[in-house]
Amino acid sequence: MADVNLRNVTKSFGKVEVIHGISCDIDDGEFIVILGPSGCGKSTLLRMIAGLEKITGGEVAIDGRVVNAIEPAERDVAMVFQNYALYPHMNVFNNMAYGLKIRGMAKEEIKRRVLHAAGILELTEFLERKPRQLSGGQRQRVAMGRCIVREPKVFLFDEPLSNLDAKLRVQMRLEIRKLHENLGITSVYVTHDQVEAMTLGDRLIVMDDGRAVQIGSPLEVYSRPSTRFVAGFIGSPAMNFLKARVSADGRQVAIANDIHLPLPGPAPSDIRSREAILGIRPEHFEVVDAGGVMLDLVVDHVEILGADTLVYGRVGDAAAELTIRLPDVHDFKASAGLSLAVPTGRLHLFDPHDGRRLDV
Ligand SMILES: Nc1ncnc2c1ncn2[C@@H]1O[C@H](COP(=O)(O)OP(=O)(O)OP(=O)(O)O)[C@@H](O)[C@H]1O
Ligand SMILES: [Mg+2]
Repeated sequence: MADVNLRNVTKSFGKVEVIHGISCDIDDGEFIVILGPSGCGKSTLLRMIAGLEKITGGEVAIDGRVVNAIEPAERDVAMVFQNYALYPHMNVFNNMAYGLKIRGMAKEEIKRRVLHAAGILELTEFLERKPRQLSGGQRQRVAMGRCIVREPKVFLFDEPLSNLDAKLRVQMRLEIRKLHENLGITSVYVTHDQVEAMTLGDRLIVMDDGRAVQIGSPLEVYSRPSTRFVAGFIGSPAMNFLKARVSADGRQVAIANDIHLPLPGPAPSDIRSREAILGIRPEHFEVVDAGGVMLDLVVDHVEILGADTLVYGRVGDAAAELTIRLPDVHDFKASAGLSLAVPTGRLHLFDPHDGRRLDV
């Protein structure tokens, strides 16, 4: 086990810089998830930790040792890829044992490690089978077994579940979490799936275009997103964004059509009398009886999902569009009117120009 330190890490391919200086101290035994859209640099960052990609600037340290110039095989890390190609002609035992054999490890030790990993992964009864005789989830577990037998200091995962169907992904997600709880090996896990990130990570590194825009626990990132990008990326359906203006006294925010929502506290002076983007998550609306009303929504369209209902509609004359999510089944008719309230602590404000969070 080991901690991993990224210190102002940069990466350029030719003249193009794709990672623009990322720093993060990953604790011993921590499960950290790198989350971000396609092309933002997740795999590149992971591959720099693995040693598969040269580090252009900054430092990567594993267990206190700077590894910039250390070969991948000497870094004591094990990586699980999206395409976890198993050797088709070898059975499960030999697929797991192969990496240890070529390192020249003693037969008895190899057997001990493979049987131990197979036990953890519930693969013991499949050790004689070839990969084609296994389900997708079982093959994925063999790929993880190959890493476990190496007893590495750090596990690196690059979207290991993206080839599996939705149900299996949920199951494997739980298994990876359980595995981590059992082994406690420092893990860095890349995904663009926010649910995977929220459920697996002790902390998330949210990346946008080669930068770490927020590093924090899943709940911190959900409840206090540091930028509009993070706010829109985490949560499903995505957060609603409305053009708004903060009042001169900083006590309320008006959305375009002159609807005023109270802010939790008076906003600091630099935020008063200015344009802002107001963010409200779909799940934070409540339908209320006329009275404590804040927004009047005209319903356009309703999707009943069983456990929840998604309501799409418009508020006010400016017809700002909103999505709201209500628990349970609601069969509202199109053009029905709903009175909505939002707890003040659930309002988010962002700078309209650079998207950073404005704290009120
Ligand atoms: N070998 C390379 N040569 C040049 N550019 C590269 C190379 N590898 C990656 N890039 C570029 O670096 C950027 C980051 O790529 P990377 O593969 O890290 O993204 P990612 O976040 O893992 O995306 P995805 O979710 O699609 O896997 C992209 O713009 C990509 O085109
Ligand atoms: Mg990738």
